[in-house]
Amino acid sequence: MRVSSVVPLLLAAAPAVSAAKGTLGFALGNKNADGSCKTTNDYKLDFETIGHLTTMVRTYSAKDCNTAEAIIPAAKDKGFKVVLGVWPDYQESFDDDVNALSKSVPGNEDVIEAITVGSEVLYRKSLTAQKLLERIETVQTKFPKVTVGTVDSWNKFADGTADPIITSGKVNYFLANGFAYWQGQDISNATNTYFDDMAQAKAHIEKVAGDNAKNIRFGNGETGWPTTGGTDYGAAKASTELAQEHYHKAVCGLLTWGIDVFYFEAFDEPYKPKSVGDNGQASDETKWGLYTAARKPKWSDIGCPN
Ligand SMILES: *[C@@H]1O[C@H](CO)[C@@H](O)[C@H](O)[C@H]1NC(C)=O
Repeated sequence: MRVSSVVPLLLAAAPAVSAAKGTLGFALGNKNADGSCKTTNDYKLDFETIGHLTTMVRTYSAKDCNTAEAIIPAAKDKGFKVVLGVWPDYQESFDDDVNALSKSVPGNEDVIEAITVGSEVLYRKSLTAQKLLERIETVQTKFPKVTVGTVDSWNKFADGTADPIITSGKVNYFLANGFAYWQGQDISNATNTYFDDMAQAKAHIEKVAGDNAKNIRFGNGETGWPTTGGTDYGAAKASTELAQEHYHKAVCGLLTWGIDVFYFEAFDEPYKPKSVGDNGQASDETKWGLYTAARKPKWSDIGCPN
């Protein structure tokens, strides 16, 4: 074995104490601009578009739009790795996603970076941490060769809500979402807020994990900023210029700290209905892409400096 090939592996295994950069990935929707389900070919076009920035994406459910079945062959073809999602909030959605994964995952573990059970379940109070832990363990038992974890809002890790999952010692992959935008932060304080959110979530997880902390992989599951045409949220203003600033300062900055980031999101999702935020106001969620739905970049120097 060549020494030069050993060193980067050692660094990658110990991000907290090394200068290794975090890995950038993208959140990826499973529908085309017209709301139809993406096919394997659509995923291939997505991967061709973002392939110079990343080879990692995360998706949210396995059965909806046959996401797992459609995306795996595209990932194999284009050299991508995928984090697959399970929606555990309801027994039916959980069973459906686990069944879909049972058909798609075995034999394809080489392109599956991880499976995440839950996306902000604790934040929405859909399940208790104990119940979510049970569902994560069920999935881990079914797919013993795959890393299985969960994703929640940063504050649910920081405030102890997720402690039963962390202290079980059975789950070692945690992604914390953090949006300074949804915290109504002016762009001038957005990077600071984002770093602080991530630092609080990471520190709490490591503290309560105790000796198991060394086995835990922590990353940012989602961050982002809406571009021009999106809805403002308090002092946070939707603008392509500000989205660019947030990307370069916050996202590239966290990667420099050695923390993995999934940017929300790769492409606009124009079919999305308006949603209601914590401030009670309807908001447009269709303009969060780094690229338009037609796969055109929104600014010219997308990417982080090396
Ligand atoms: C700036 O961000 C920090 C960290 O999140 C926060 O504590 C502070 O209140 C923010 N400042 C303003 C003016 O909102």
